[in-house]
Amino acid sequence: MAPQPPSPGPDFIYGTAWKEDRTPALTELALRMGFRAIDTANQRRHYFEEGVGQGLAAAYNAGIVTRDDLFLQTKFTYQPGQDHRLPYDPEASLSIQVAQSMASSLEHLGTGHVDSYVLHGPSSNHDWTDADAEVWEAMRKERDAGRTRLLGVSNVSLRHLQQMATAHAELPAFVQNRCYARLGWDRVVRQFCREHKIVYQGFSLLTANQEVLQHPLIASLTIASLGASANATPAQIVFSFARNIGILPLTGTTNAQHMKQDLAARTLTLPPDAVQAIESVAG
Ligand SMILES: NC(=O)c1ccc[n+]([C@@H]2O[C@H](COP(=O)([O-])OP(=O)(O)OC[C@H]3O[C@@H](n4cnc5c(N)ncnc54)[C@H](OP(=O)(O)O)[C@@H]3O)[C@@H](O)[C@H]2O)c1
Repeated sequence: MAPQPPSPGPDFIYGTAWKEDRTPALTELALRMGFRAIDTANQRRHYFEEGVGQGLAAAYNAGIVTRDDLFLQTKFTYQPGQDHRLPYDPEASLSIQVAQSMASSLEHLGTGHVDSYVLHGPSSNHDWTDADAEVWEAMRKERDAGRTRLLGVSNVSLRHLQQMATAHAELPAFVQNRCYARLGWDRVVRQFCREHKIVYQGFSLLTANQEVLQHPLIASLTIASLGASANATPAQIVFSFARNIGILPLTGTTNAQHMKQDLAARTLTLPPDAVQAIESVAG
């Protein structure tokens, strides 16, 4: 049984990948615009986790938020997913690597605990391996020691999750996956998550689904009839749809206006038949 995220959990997550030197300012801006959940990773190749910590510190100092207002999520990344800037000793066992990576994350983020700790991706695209089992047990120890409240896995297939369920007594609280409309918005993994009370976090909702953003069905829904004061944008329709089918969305927008629009999508109301139509628009 997956431990349940507190209710209400986060309702939109701001992602900090690929922002490099802009990471501190964009993290602070996202908090200023109203985001309360932040996703990062201790993977310097794609994330500047220390910069996220700088953005958090700036927001605390400016009185925008306190640590208690926030949901902070970071990840453990295996060495093949890293460049030379490793947050652990590559010669150490995987269990030690997890502990070292977590200690470094807490230092980067200036906190004593994160809210969610995620395995960035299994060691094999096909199977849940012994290496993954060792890492998962090490992550559980971090949780039991109070350094994270919840655990997650990312970039997983249904097969990974099924094998994980066989190998372990405990399933994750979160799955974080790239969400392709052509795969029914990751239908089979979402179904597994629903059955096991796992919260599904979806990323690349816009970037992986450009054809959907241009679809006439989406265009027809952007007209002001959805409880919004102005016409909704295609991006807002997609985020609203995602929330309607139980996806906790991520956005990595670098634009203040888009941050506002993405958060405003939480108050749009889509008719149930529109939700159904979008769910099968591409697959
Ligand atoms: N677990 C993993 O392996 C993994 C992989 C990828 C991502 N992630 C996480 O997910 C986060 C988000 O990544 P993502 O791939 O979903 O998004 P992303 O790469 O950050 O891209 C979002 C894109 O959508 C645009 N956008 C956002 N809101 C918009 C709006 N309202 N109107 C028009 N365009 C809009 C952005 O453009 P503007 O900047 O111009 O707004 C940007 O081009 C990452 O930062 C990271 O935290 C995790």
